[in-house]
Parts: sequence; C-alpha cells; structure tokens
Amino acid sequence: MKAWLAVAVLALSTAACADWSNPPEQVRAARVAARSRWGTSSVYTPARSSLADATRTHFGLRADPVQPFAYSHRIHLAQDLACVDCHQGVESGPRAGIPGISTCMTCHAAIATDKPLVKSMADMQTRGLDFAWQRVYDYPREAHVRFEHQPHITAKVECSTCHGDMRQQEVATRQVNMDMSFCVNCHREKKASNDCLTCHY
Ligand code: HEC
Ligand code: HEC
Ligand code: HEC
Ligand code: HEC
Ligand code: HEC
Repeated sequence: MKAWLAVAVLALSTAACADWSNPPEQVRAARVAARSRWGTSSVYTPARSSLADATRTHFGLRADPVQPFAYSHRIHLAQDLACVDCHQGVESGPRAGIPGISTCMTCHAAIATDKPLVKSMADMQTRGLDFAWQRVYDYPREAHVRFEHQPHITAKVECSTCHGDMRQQEVATRQVNMDMSFCVNCHREKKASNDCLTCHY
C-alpha cells in the first residue's frame, strides 16, 4: 500500500514538472518558491537512471553510511579541539576536507597511546593503510550542486546550522536535510545570490 502511494505521488509530481525544460526566470523562481512549501525538493528529472533511484531521491531515502573506524566527534570536541584542526580547508576554500590517518597521528603519536583503538591506528599507519571514510553529506552528481564552505564561514553561518550539534555525535550523522529549499530560503533571507548558477554547474 505504501509503495503504491509512493509511486502515485511520484507520478503526479513528475506530471507537474513535465514542462520543466526551459521556462522563463520568473516561472522558475515561482516554482522554487512553491517547492519550498513542501520543505523538500519535489523535482524529478530524467537525470535519474531508474524509477527506483528517482523515488529514493524524491523521498530523501538513503542508507546511513558505515564508517571503517569508531571515530568520536563527542570525545574530541569535549577536549576543546576546533573543527579546523581536522577539517583544514573549511575556513579557506570550498571543501572542508576529511582527515587521513597522518592528521590523526600528529596528536596520537603522543596522546592516548595506551588506548586499544589508538594502538590499532598506529599499527595501520606503520602498514601504510589509511581510513576509507564514507561521505555523509553529499549530493548525487546528477544534481550538479556547487557548494563552498568559505563564504559561509566568513559570513558567520555556524557549522551547526547545516550539520547539527557535532558535540553530540560520534561519527557524523545526517541531522539536517540540506535540500534546495533549505539553501534558497536562507539566501533569500540574507540577501545572498539565488541565481541558479550560484549553486549549480
Ligand atoms: C551553509 C551550510 C554549511 C555550513 C555552515 C557548513 N557546512 Fe559543511 N557541508 C555543507 C554541504 C552542503 C556539504 C556537502 C558538499 C558537497 O559534498 O557537495 C558539506 C560538507 C562538509 C564536509 C565533508 C566534505 C568536505 O567539504 O570536505 C565536512 C567535513 C564539513 N562539511 C564540515 C564543516 C565544518 C567543520 C563547518 C563549520 C566550520 C561546516 N561544514 C559548515 C554545508 C555546510
Ligand atoms: C589535535 C589533537 C588530536 C587529533 C588531530 C586527533 N585526536 Fe584523537 N584524541 C585527542 C585527545 C586529546 C583525546 C582524548 C585523550 C584522553 O581521553 O585521554 C583523543 C582520543 C582519541 C581516541 C580514544 C577514545 C577513547 O576514549 O577510547 C581515539 C580512538 C582517537 N582519539 C582517534 C582519533 C582519530 C581517528 C583521529 C583522526 C581522524 C584523531 N583521533 C585525531 C586528540 C586528537
Ligand atoms: C579530531 C578530528 C576531528 C575534529 C576536531 C572534527 N572532526 Fe568532523 N570528521 C572527522 C572525521 C574522521 C570524519 C569522518 C568520519 C565521520 O563521518 O564522522 C569527520 C566527518 C565530519 C562530517 C561529515 C562529512 C561528510 O559529508 O562526510 C561533518 C559534517 C563534520 N565532520 C563536521 C565537523 C564539525 C562541525 C566539527 C567542529 C565542531 C568537526 N567536524 C570536528 C574528524 C574530526
Ligand atoms: C543559514 C544561511 C545559509 C544557508 C543555509 C546556505 N547559505 Fe549559501 N550563503 C549564505 C551567505 C550569507 C553567503 C555569503 C554571501 C556573500 O558573501 O555575499 C552564502 C554564499 C554562498 C555561495 C557563494 C556565492 C558567491 O557569490 O560566491 C554559494 C555557492 C552558496 N552560498 C551555496 C549554498 C548552498 C548550495 C547551500 C545549501 C546546501 C547554501 N548555500 C546554504 C548563507 C547561507
Ligand atoms: C542556494 C542554492 C541553490 C540555488 C540558488 C538553486 N538551487 Fe537547485 N538545488 C540546490 C540543492 C542543494 C539541490 C539538491 C537538493 C537535494 O539533492 O536534496 C538542488 C536541486 C535542484 C534540482 C533537482 C536536481 C535533481 O534531480 O536532484 C533542480 C532541477 C534544480 N535544483 C534547479 C534549480 C533552478 C532551475 C534554480 C534557479 C531558479 C536553482 N535550482 C537554484 C541548491 C540551489
């Protein structure tokens, strides 16, 4: 029953967006505004390779990533570390960056060396291994989203606005639904650009 409903709703919204192709700017803007009432982007484009894929995107369904190592934001942030200690690009460029084992070991060559997890990390480094972190917040390539951290940090938008309170998280979990209306609503409020090409390529 649920699955049937999902397909029906998708079919409706597909029909509603069927003439998406190349409307004038005002029409597009009105659609963006209309979509934000739903709190989620209800656009289906042929960029999805299958109906199942489109349905998943449409309802914001995705599996939680499984990380290769029990890293804890909670423990580290209780130690007064700053985000930029590990996410070194976040204040200066588009990408925050996710730390590799050599960043961890700049501290852990000397800190908590008796802890089993830290020992196993040191062992990994000796064997030339690194962490294969899974992405938590990312967009499907088909959405062609362009995001940059630096302008937001300069404009004093808090990390927690977009990523939730990291002091309560072990590995990062998706706590904020950063769909298009989330971005566009704040840009409107802060008078930042809402040209399509600000956020899309
Ligand atoms: C305005 C919203 C916003 C703010 C503020 C923000 N982020 Fe992000 N962050 C994002 C989005 C969107 C992505 C996904 C970008 C992508 O993959 O295209 C992301 C991705 C990331 C990533 C993984 C990918 C990368 O960029 O290397 C890290 C780590 C991260 N953010 C850390 C931070 C930290 C630390 C802060 C605060 C200093 C912060 N973010 C502030 C929206 C935000
Ligand atoms: C700027 C220094 C610093 C960096 C960089 C750093 N840590 Fe830590 N780490 C600490 C401190 C401080 C503690 C707390 C030590 C304690 O409680 O005795 C800690 C604790 C830990 C623990 C032990 C947790 C427990 O109590 O069982 C692990 C595991 C760990 N870190 C993994 C990592 C990993 C993985 C990275 C890289 C992604 C990393 N650390 C990067 C400073 C750092
Ligand atoms: C000691 C190192 C360290 C510190 C300090 C740290 N992080 Fe992280 N962060 C990591 C590691 C390792 C990962 C990859 C594992 C995961 O997803 O949790 C990560 C992942 C993330 C992600 C998920 C990125 C993605 O899209 O995959 C976000 C968001 C993030 N961190 C935000 C923050 C914020 C905000 C702060 C400061 C309040 C912070 N982190 C402080 C090590 C750190
Ligand atoms: C809470 C408010 C807020 C949210 C949420 C937000 N932004 Fe922004 N954004 C800003 C502000 C403020 C600026 C800086 C504008 C300036 O410097 O004039 C900005 C700037 C940008 C820029 C740089 C624009 C330029 O002209 O260089 C891009 C790209 C961008 N945002 C994309 C996004 C995307 C994509 C999202 C959603 C994932 C998002 N933003 C969410 C407030 C926000
Ligand atoms: C402030 C940033 C921002 C602006 C401005 C913006 N978008 Fe988006 N848009 C996004 C983000 C982020 C997503 C991805 C949402 C998701 O995957 O949940 C998105 C998704 C989309 C999608 C869905 C793509 C897909 O199949 O997943 C379309 C179509 C789209 N935008 C068109 C537009 C058009 C047309 C404009 C100009 C009127 C525009 N966007 C302006 C941020 C923005």
